[in-house]
Amino acid sequence: MLMDIKEKIQKLKNQKNAVILVHNYQLPEIQDIADYRGDSLGLSLEASRTKADVIVFCGVYFMAETAKIISPEKVVLIPDRNAGCPMANMITAEQLKKIKQKHPTMKTLCYVNSSAEVKAESDICCTSANAVMIAEKAFNKTDKIMFIPDRHLAHYASTKVDRQFSFWPGYCPTHARILPEYIRKKKAEHPEAIVLVHPECSQEVVDLADQALSTGGMSRFVKESEHQEFIIGTETGMLYRLAQDNPDKKFYAAADIAVCPNMKKITLDKVLKSLELMKDEVTLPETTLKRAQKSIQRMIEYA
Ligand code: 13P
Ligand code: SF4
Repeated sequence: MLMDIKEKIQKLKNQKNAVILVHNYQLPEIQDIADYRGDSLGLSLEASRTKADVIVFCGVYFMAETAKIISPEKVVLIPDRNAGCPMANMITAEQLKKIKQKHPTMKTLCYVNSSAEVKAESDICCTSANAVMIAEKAFNKTDKIMFIPDRHLAHYASTKVDRQFSFWPGYCPTHARILPEYIRKKKAEHPEAIVLVHPECSQEVVDLADQALSTGGMSRFVKESEHQEFIIGTETGMLYRLAQDNPDKKFYAAADIAVCPNMKKITLDKVLKSLELMKDEVTLPETTLKRAQKSIQRMIEYA
């Protein structure tokens, strides 16, 4: 049955010249059908490079929207348009406009986990993989930077680069479930293990880790590391990818409850339906798309 669905997806994909882009947090069976699997930055770059006519985006809505902004000439499908990111909804374009009116000289650095409308109001975008580099290259020491919407990634960047940040109080509810005491407990259980956490985790969790990395950064780090055991402080879907790529190494979830329900909304059935009916296409008003494109394009140029 599973094979049946996978074969049907493969067939339709070839017929429609489609590509399946998959985020590292997706369900194992979705990761298995990926043409490309990666973090937000990698997926954005892949969306800009692909020769396909259709992108089936298996991730959350802002990621599919980013693919559309980067490749407006392509059809971008999201198999479940209710797969949102709560953090991305923690700031609206109206709220950002108000801040800009109040502080007209303030610059805006916008985490890619945001709506197209918010990106359109921002100076430049970043992902967790390049936030520190973008803050350093795109801004001067005298610039006042409003980092939206993730306060934890903003804090992490502020400890790595000498720039003036203001923090918006957004956060990821899934990473908030990873508590410092869980990391301490796992470290005691696996004293040889290296601790890798996502910079969306709280400062206390990041302080207990050996490295704070994007999901793509974790993937590279583990591959290149001589260590054999890793405690992984991010959404648990990441462990499937790590175990697949590194069958000889051991991985322990910092918190089994760190599951992003929205990431898990994409199923094989929905991918098949989406391709069959070409449904749930991501569309954007032209002006929003063009303005959001500028802030993403600026990021890609630095990347
Ligand atoms: P990455 O860009 O590191 O994959 O992170 C995306 C995300 O939503 C983390 O919660
Ligand atoms: Fe959004 Fe958090 Fe889910 Fe990432 S893990 S998509 S930041 S809710």
